[in-house]
Amino acid sequence: MKNVAKHIAIIMDGNGRWAKEQGLKRVKGHEKGAEIVRNVTTFCSQQPQIERLTLYAFSTENWKRPKMEVEFLMKLLDHYLKNELPTYLEHNIRFEPIGDLGRFSPALQRTIESIRTQTAHCDGLIQSLALNYGSRDELVRVFERLRGSEEPLTEARIGAALDCPADVDLLIRTGGDTRLSNFLLWQAAYAELFFSDTLWPEFTTAELSGIIEKFTTIERRFGGLK
Ligand code: IPE
Ligand code: IPE
Ligand code: MG
Repeated sequence: MKNVAKHIAIIMDGNGRWAKEQGLKRVKGHEKGAEIVRNVTTFCSQQPQIERLTLYAFSTENWKRPKMEVEFLMKLLDHYLKNELPTYLEHNIRFEPIGDLGRFSPALQRTIESIRTQTAHCDGLIQSLALNYGSRDELVRVFERLRGSEEPLTEARIGAALDCPADVDLLIRTGGDTRLSNFLLWQAAYAELFFSDTLWPEFTTAELSGIIEKFTTIERRFGGLK
């Protein structure tokens, strides 16, 4: 039996290094990176077995970056989402943000919410952008919400209350580093991990397709025996 990658999660890393390599400012790497988001999302929406694509776009730790870079990323996100609506609708993609959105400006929150509601009826791929997302922050918010209740805490209850309620099958990080950087720690408990040296702006759907192909041949045991 071949594995099916129903939920793919990607840590899109290496934008800044790519830009530096090209003699450009770091933010140009983010601009190019947004194009890759579009390519990868469209590609995944055309693979019927892929139900969910979760992309790490801005972490709870990324606020530490210079103000100018953070502001650029916020503008880019707003622009990307507004621009992307026809693509979401054309490919029947539902946009579901995850993360603590309350820290964004009211205008950006409105854009996020507007794209979310306008694609809520789409029943093809779910594209989740992780925005001001940190796995620890997500868990703290869940525990805070559940702690008043009389019902016992179970894995199922915690899992269902997470921003991202689905286990990850295949987790990819581009950019050459081999760490999770606070991404989907709960959901990736049994994910297959793939690390690529490719910088995100150079990541292609051909490379993604190769990774998915390799994933299908892995023996996943989930602690049991085969
Ligand atoms: C990932 O690329 C995008 C974000 C974190 C927003 P980086 O900006 O981290 O690029 P590098 O790792 O510095 O090259
Ligand atoms: C992870 O990349 C976050 C995103 C891709 C959004 P970082 O570049 O922020 O991670 P570290 O700092 O190298 O761990
Ligand atoms: Mg990085």
